[in-house]
Amino acid sequence: MAIIITGGLGFIGSHTALALAAQNQEIIILDNCINSSPKTHKLLEQLKTTTAKISHYNVDITNYQALIEIAIKIRFIINNPITAIIHFAALKAVGESNEKPLDYYHNNITGLINMVRFAKLLSCPNFIFSSSATVYPHNAPLPCVEDGNHAQQTDRRYSTIITAAHPYGNTKLIGEQILNDVAAADKTLNIIILRYFNPVGNHESGLLGEDFINARPNNLFPAILSAMYNNTTIKVFGTDYNTPDGSAIRDFIHVSDVADAHVVAMNWLKTNPGIHCFNVGSGHGYSVLSVINNFIKHGAPLKYECTERRQGDAEQVYADTTRATNILEWTPKYTLDDMVKHTLIYYNKVRSTAEIKN
Ligand code: UD1
Repeated sequence: MAIIITGGLGFIGSHTALALAAQNQEIIILDNCINSSPKTHKLLEQLKTTTAKISHYNVDITNYQALIEIAIKIRFIINNPITAIIHFAALKAVGESNEKPLDYYHNNITGLINMVRFAKLLSCPNFIFSSSATVYPHNAPLPCVEDGNHAQQTDRRYSTIITAAHPYGNTKLIGEQILNDVAAADKTLNIIILRYFNPVGNHESGLLGEDFINARPNNLFPAILSAMYNNTTIKVFGTDYNTPDGSAIRDFIHVSDVADAHVVAMNWLKTNPGIHCFNVGSGHGYSVLSVINNFIKHGAPLKYECTERRQGDAEQVYADTTRATNILEWTPKYTLDDMVKHTLIYYNKVRSTAEIKN
């Protein structure tokens, strides 16, 4: 059996590839490396704990002709049937999506449609889609429940009613709608939508992770590492929220737990046809200040300053994980301490490698 992972060299994709390789699954990664590095393929080969084959094709999934060529190669080179496609590859920067909405719709929506067509072309029966907690509206009741009414924002920019707060969120919302329509029309494709909350942390080796040196990080954990690396201060965006310490609250979850959720979901889907949706979060709300203090507790040389709220931020977002716990029998293992400790192992590895190069 072989599994195709789009975006398999990215942050969540690479951790998931490793977790599936540990189950002796053959992995075929489709990744055009616009937000990842081909070096990650070598790291996966180095870190895998079985003899599972991991191959990488540098392909733009919005180019269906290129996918057909991959399908031909897969038929000739890979003897195993493709049992699942896990579709991570997408653009994900909220601010950039406001500036370049068409790039986001093209990449995320055309990419999704192509991958569903590709699944049909390969007679692949199972499909897992990376969605996001961004589909929940800011005023959603907490914790966020999968079946709640979601994404009914009243943003002046949009004339439609059901919308996320930004084009990136809309690509996830529309992606979910497309898959629901596909599932209604085609009972031969089993689909799981996973809504990630805030995946952070790193594989314990400290070798896999997001670039914080060359990229301009927006998300909290990479921004913290960037501040440490450049000896600047991390800005706490807003300390006047209606929360115990005034900073915003998010559901941070270890990326290895997120990877594990894919392994569990994929195995479960094989015997549970139809379309299903699960939150993938820790179920805990951690404040931004508590995360920063946890870094400091673990010895991180981190300075912070309190600034204005970031435009478009929700006050609190955290998951109800009952459905994943009861149905998938999946529960996260790692604590915030683990997330921070593993992030610091990664930071120290990257920093010492950068120092050797300089
Ligand atoms: C953001 C996106 C969300 C996307 C997710 C994953 C926004 C409004 N939301 O979620 O749609 O799915 O990333 O890519 O961008 N923070 C600081 N200082 C920093 C960076 C972040 O205080 O330098 C705070 C933020 O204001 C927020 C919290 O940390 O309160 C988490 O931020 P982030 O990691 O960007 O995640 P989300 O805002 O939850």
